[in-house]
Amino acid sequence: MTQRKPAILVARAIFPSVIERLREHFDVTSNDDDAIWSPDDLASRLQGKAGILTTGAERVGAELLAACPDLRIAANMAVGYNNFDLAAMTERGVQATNTPDVLTETTADFGFALMMATARRMAESEHYLRAGLWKRWRYDMFAGAEVHGSTLGILGMGRIGQGIARRGALGFGMKVIYHNRSRLDAATEVACGATYVSKAELLQQADHLVLVLPYSPSSHHAIGAAELAQMKPTATLTNIARGGIVDDAALAVALRERRIAAAGLDVFEGEPQLNPELLTVPNVVLTPHIASATLPTRQAMADLAADNLIAFLTTGRALTPLNTPTGR
Ligand code: GLV
Repeated sequence: MTQRKPAILVARAIFPSVIERLREHFDVTSNDDDAIWSPDDLASRLQGKAGILTTGAERVGAELLAACPDLRIAANMAVGYNNFDLAAMTERGVQATNTPDVLTETTADFGFALMMATARRMAESEHYLRAGLWKRWRYDMFAGAEVHGSTLGILGMGRIGQGIARRGALGFGMKVIYHNRSRLDAATEVACGATYVSKAELLQQADHLVLVLPYSPSSHHAIGAAELAQMKPTATLTNIARGGIVDDAALAVALRERRIAAAGLDVFEGEPQLNPELLTVPNVVLTPHIASATLPTRQAMADLAADNLIAFLTTGRALTPLNTPTGR
């Protein structure tokens, strides 16, 4: 007698080749139309399923877990996992996994690119050109901030922060300073060309401040009006971490009043909605949460999420676990 395959749900559209591979192991319900399901919809589609492949947009919290007692693993196709209530998952005996490493360099590339686009006013000047306003050369037209040789500040010095630090120190001769919950070991600091400073020193000294820290209640509004006020008026701020780490309303005011020079934002509070004020200030580069978006990297992320489901549901051991479930 053949054993029935475990049932899983894939919450959003992903590469068809990954769905095919999952079908070799599981009875797969996929979302090929990429519909956005309400939490109730998600819970009802998850009935009887042992696993779910989520993106950073689906909340796996106490309510969903209580409604879906068969769930054994949620595999996030993202390195960030603030959409998971890890404590509730652990308590309910549900494995959580994410996709570290495979997106590090791609995301660091994007963070650096967004910082440069912000410093050199690429979006603002492109809008000017598209509007037909470019009539002649002028000595100070869209004069931006220097990148090479300036001071790069990094808040959150995990794998991606370290990648951005290496790009700045080795590629652009920048002085790199960082602040993190815990200080890196000396060898890693040397490899990144980075010096540990207090958060206040980071805010005061950075010419370009890049945020790469995880979102949690303790990092909510880590950059608000008080922090923006400590930055240089010539400084730029780049956020590729998570919406909610920056107080977007306070940032829009600081940009409008030129208390800092410019910002580059890939993530937003309440995305895909944006604080409408951000759309009215010129000195901000806005991108729709695409820091890891190259096809090879997205493929690697989907593959790793799928491999976590396969490994855990066939051997009991996930490849990149976030917790050690206790409650089952
Ligand atoms: C993207 O934001 C991720 O966490 O992978």
